[in-house]
Amino acid sequence: MEKILSLKYEEGQLVMIDQRKLPLQEVDFVARTYREVDFAIKDMVIRGAPAIGAAAAYGVALAAREFEDLDKEDFMKNLEEALEVLNRSRPTAVNLMWAVKRMRKLINENQNLEVKALSALILEEAHKVTVEDQAINIAMGDHGNTVIPQKATILTHCNTGALATVGIGTALGVVRQAHYSGKDLLVYADETRPRLQGGRLTAWELLKEGIPARLIADSVAATLIRDGKIDVILVGADRVAGNGDAANKIGTFMLSVVAKAYGVPFYVVAPTTTIDFESRSGEDIVIEEREATEVTHIEGVRFAPEGIEVYNPAFDVTPAENITGIVTEKGILKAPYTEAMAALRRTL
Ligand code: MRU
Repeated sequence: MEKILSLKYEEGQLVMIDQRKLPLQEVDFVARTYREVDFAIKDMVIRGAPAIGAAAAYGVALAAREFEDLDKEDFMKNLEEALEVLNRSRPTAVNLMWAVKRMRKLINENQNLEVKALSALILEEAHKVTVEDQAINIAMGDHGNTVIPQKATILTHCNTGALATVGIGTALGVVRQAHYSGKDLLVYADETRPRLQGGRLTAWELLKEGIPARLIADSVAATLIRDGKIDVILVGADRVAGNGDAANKIGTFMLSVVAKAYGVPFYVVAPTTTIDFESRSGEDIVIEEREATEVTHIEGVRFAPEGIEVYNPAFDVTPAENITGIVTEKGILKAPYTEAMAALRRTL
């Protein structure tokens, strides 16, 4: 299978698969400045929590390269501005803030270095973020695979695959590891309105992998769950609070309620970089609201009447009590989550 690389760094430029265009066009978007990376994250050229974290890390590296010819003081000032801009590019996925914080820490700890040496170190750190995410994905995949029956029908939401990370994926990484280990799978992929990450991106990844899959409209999921057609539900997360509440793509909460009502296991698959230990519960998580046209238009074509008001939150929060387990690279966390999270935090 040809490896899907959501992003790659090539001599002064960040090359990203343009996810706005998939699956009809497989084209790259090339960012040469941190402002272009900021745009790519905002406009969802690249999306998915770990992928935007890695993109932001490279955004800082591009900024450092851009300002390399300035004197140290101006270099540091401009770099700080880049960190601020990238940190604000999207508000919910905490991997973004995690990556910016990691880069800021590295910069602060090495501020005595000359500009060029510091710039090289920043790029090296961005590479490390990427390499680490790949290993984390595999570890999550292996842990998650332990809860997948030999023959299983899996329901998933949004895109949590290679496109959403820089490895094999979070929830879709578990699907991949289960598939590679010879399990007999059927995956139902929610289309995931309004941006259709399931219909456009997950469907594309599953087809490329040769994993048996069916695309469904979001409103089909409840019927499949009630009718006993789903063995396990796997979703990702954009931010997990310290009590286990998990923010993920809009529609995830609804799935969790139906899963609980019908006793279907519901797993959140998320790396520890997606855990925000500072958020005590889901109430502390900022939910991004996106533009109305995502709801009123499909592929740029308006179908809703002019003048209709729109409410378009990009994420919702699934309460910890609806979650069977949180699969991380360190193992599977179970309730009571506050205690499990605190214990996990001590190991990091
Ligand atoms: O708005 P998006 O496409 O960035 O949202 C992505 C999701 O909600 C994913 O499920 C989440 O990032 C976890 S998978 C890496």
